[in-house]
Amino acid sequence: MTLAELEQSYGESMAAVRDATDATALDQVRVRYVGRNGLIPALVKQMKDVPAADRPAFGKRLQTWRAELEELLEARKGEVAAPVASGPVFDATLPGQWSVPGVEHPVTQVIAEVARIFGKLGFTVADGPDVETRFNNFTALNTAAHHPSMDAADTFWFDDDLLLRTQTSPVQVRVMTAHKPPVRIITPGRCYRRDTTDATHSANFHQTEGLYVDTRPVSLADLKSTLAYFAREMMGSKVGVRFRPHFFPFTEPSVEVDFSCHICGGSGCRVCKQSGWIEIAGAGMVDPRVYRFVGYDPEEVYGYAFGMGVERIAMIKYGIKDIRHLYENDVRFLSQFG
Ligand code: PHE
Repeated sequence: MTLAELEQSYGESMAAVRDATDATALDQVRVRYVGRNGLIPALVKQMKDVPAADRPAFGKRLQTWRAELEELLEARKGEVAAPVASGPVFDATLPGQWSVPGVEHPVTQVIAEVARIFGKLGFTVADGPDVETRFNNFTALNTAAHHPSMDAADTFWFDDDLLLRTQTSPVQVRVMTAHKPPVRIITPGRCYRRDTTDATHSANFHQTEGLYVDTRPVSLADLKSTLAYFAREMMGSKVGVRFRPHFFPFTEPSVEVDFSCHICGGSGCRVCKQSGWIEIAGAGMVDPRVYRFVGYDPEEVYGYAFGMGVERIAMIKYGIKDIRHLYENDVRFLSQFG
């Protein structure tokens, strides 16, 4: 290449840099002239072929060319826009998408465990609606019309007849009305009461009813042994169980069932109200009047029923000191039950 040709290439290269309209084009010019296999390095290699007399001038010009070109490239870099990407952009520096698998709510876990344990004893799961009739929730359960639990201060009424069930016991009525004995069911589900919320009460809570009615003799001893078995399966062999005489309109005799407090080990704490025991269930032998309401002959059937508080079981099983934790859906709390 002669000096004149060199000048011409110089002019072309500078023009190409000025004409480049985006960073990609600019980079192509850079590669063409000063890249490893670009024109300027190639000319440096060809220096030995240049006539000796021209060589110093030729070498100097190559140097100034390169310097000027690189300076202009640098200046133009700031002027041209970043290349516009077409199609989806993958940014490897963005944080990934976390998918944290959920866990079953402790209330759901307890219900599943209750169903599993009673399932071993031959109980199946029955269901009923949250919105019930006065008949199913009270009347057929032998609850007198003036009973305080029917008061609007305790029960959420929609009208004179419909209400949010205050217990899972109406499912007893539904099942017995629809099926001949023997029936052996548990019925987990939501219940509603106008309770003021505190550490152990909620206006919306869960119960699971149990009902066993047969034409063969069924006694209070069967009920006690069944619930004692359940307690040990659910809480472990160390749990204490006690039965206290009580009254329910739909059972006779009736008992309340307490489990020893798992949280304090029986020595007394806030959750068991310093008593060492937690009330878990109401139970008893199904009252003959209930049988008449559902069309069974009280002379021909025997049976027991119980209703357990699911949250109460969850609280003592997992050492939860405030029932409200079960409804706040704080992931830090819930994720401990995975
Ligand atoms: N339904 C009663 C309650 O909510 C519990 C219970 C159920 C009692 C079945 C006896 C028999 O308190």
